This record gives sequence, C-alpha cells and structure tokens, in this order.
Amino acid sequence: MTQSEPRALQLNEKGQLKHFLSLEGLDKTILTEILDLAESFLNMGEQSVKKVPLLRGKTVVNLFFENSTRTRTTFELAAKRLSADVINLNIETSATSKGESLLDTLQNLEAMQSDMFVVRHGDSGAAHFIAEHCTPNVAIINAGDGRHAHPTQAMLDMLTIRRHKGGFEGLKVAIVGDILHSRVARSQIHALTTLGVEEIRLVGPKTLVPNYFSETGAVICHELQAGLQDVDVIVMLRLQKERMHGALLPSESEFYRLYGLTMESMSWAKPDVVVMHPGPINRGVEISSEVADGEHSVILNQVTNGIAVRMAVMSMAMSGQVQSQESERSMASDTMVGEKV
Ligand code: NCD
Repeated sequence: MTQSEPRALQLNEKGQLKHFLSLEGLDKTILTEILDLAESFLNMGEQSVKKVPLLRGKTVVNLFFENSTRTRTTFELAAKRLSADVINLNIETSATSKGESLLDTLQNLEAMQSDMFVVRHGDSGAAHFIAEHCTPNVAIINAGDGRHAHPTQAMLDMLTIRRHKGGFEGLKVAIVGDILHSRVARSQIHALTTLGVEEIRLVGPKTLVPNYFSETGAVICHELQAGLQDVDVIVMLRLQKERMHGALLPSESEFYRLYGLTMESMSWAKPDVVVMHPGPINRGVEISSEVADGEHSVILNQVTNGIAVRMAVMSMAMSGQVQSQESERSMASDTMVGEKV
C-alpha cells in the first residue's frame, strides 16, 4: 500500500488542518496557531464553567488499542470541555480482539455517525491508514502510533517550553534516553526544528541513540555531561521495554549511573533549566525523585497543558472538516448552475 504524503492528507483545500496525524509537513504557521489557540483554552480551565460549545452535537470516539492513562484521560477531558459526546472504546473487549479487522471496526463506528476518532495503536502508520480509509468528514487524531509519531504530546511539550522560556529562538534542548523506540522524540524533533530552536541534542547509549538520527539535524551525544552542558530544556524519556527486542542495555542501574538525571547531572545544564518528561516516569531508572519533584520540573504542567493543546487540535480539525464539506457543496452547486446555463 502506498501512503499519501502526510501534508496532503492532513490539510484541506484551504490549507487548514482536517486530520492531525504527524508533524511532518506542517509549517510554523500551523504549529503556532495550535499553540496560540491552546493558550486561550488554558485560562478556561481555571474558570468555574469549563466548557465551550465548539464541538456541541459532535461525537468523539477514543479508539485506544494500547494502554494509556494520561493521554486518554486528557483527550476525554478536552472533548468534554468542547461539549462533544465522548465514547471510550475498550479494545480488550471490542470486536477487534474477536477477529474483526481494523477497517470493519472503523466502518461500524462510522455507521454510528461518529465525527472524530482519536486513535492510539501499536503499529506505526495506523492513524494514517485509518485517515486514508475513513469516510470523508470524519477527523482522525493520532494519539500515538508505534514508534512513529505522537504529535499532540510534542505540541503540549512545545506549549510548555514556550510558556516557560518565552519562545524557541536560541534554545538548546536535550532529549535523553531511549530515543530509538520513542514516538515522542521523533515528533519533538519535527516540532523543535520547525519552531526554530538553536540546537537539539539526542543523548543516550549507542544502542538507544543510533548515529543515523544525525540525519534529522540533531547532535548525537553518547555521554551525558556533554549532552546536558548549558542546555535550556531537558526532556527525559522512559526505557520503552515493551518495544525492545533483545538486550540493548547492561542493566537499569547501569543506565541510571550513566544517563540518569540527578541533582548532580542537572547542574551541568543552565541554572534556569526546565525538566520535562512525557510520563510515565520511572524514578531511579531515568530520573531521581528529587529532580522529578523539584523546582525545575514542569512534568505536571505538561499534563495540564495537554488538555488545552488537545482542545485546540480537535477544534481546528473539526472546523477544517466542516470548511472542506462547505467548499465541496459550493463546488457542486456551481457545477449545477453551470449545467443549467
Ligand atoms: C508516551 C507514549 O505513550 O508514547 N507517553 C504518553 O503519551 N504520555 C511515552 C511513553 O510511553 O514512554
């Protein structure tokens, strides 16, 4: 199967977002629009009435084929704050595990007149595949596919960086740990590059940070001190053992000794460094409790920002679908007028 180019699939004829599958091909204008809109939703979370009617009457299905707590819950909250009706599909008990194909499941959900699917799947390319095969006017949002992409996570990380650092220009960002298996790192590299940071460093052992990642334009560091020297932002990643085949590490304690973020290793970074982690965190494996709970950590702010970013992406994609429908309708009526004349 040949997959269509991400940009073409994600944008409507006016260049507006209609699906959100990956950050590849999305330019700085769209990424900034997402951040600006998310920023406006952030204030809403503090008000007593936390709802806007942007998705009223729409049905959002959370289609999670892989475990998740944070991502699924924040997508659900985001949809509810946009006034949508939300269904969480428990894939363990769904028909898919009874042998129904992904497309059959999808067609059944479409027959229930769903307007948006939020998809998490263990296979890279799953959300893209669904976007290519679903009926027109249904928006697909990628909530993580294999090790390929996790675009809403990367955008909530960008919002967190922008709010703490005021922008992206001149920033040095280190992403540390299991880059090889990380969809978060891949999406972050796209976002940070598009938004124009000065330097991205990928830090970890050779087995988890292969040299071919330098093709992304990032600097590869196999030594933690060099990787953290003078950085403004540190992103720590978990060892994603469920995606590892074979022994890529001597042991967790050896990994912590060489690459763990502790008060000591954090001191190599700038004094006002911020520490991020997409979660789930493993204390004493990639990060010490002192750092995770310390004053440089913005890990819980990331979770809060996730709701606002997901609201922004969902409302933009729904509006892009509606605009697309309208322009199709007006093209059809132009043709009919033309035929009469
Ligand atoms: C990440 C994911 O699922 O890719 N977590 C998340 O979305 N909060 C990172 C991870 O699992 O390590």
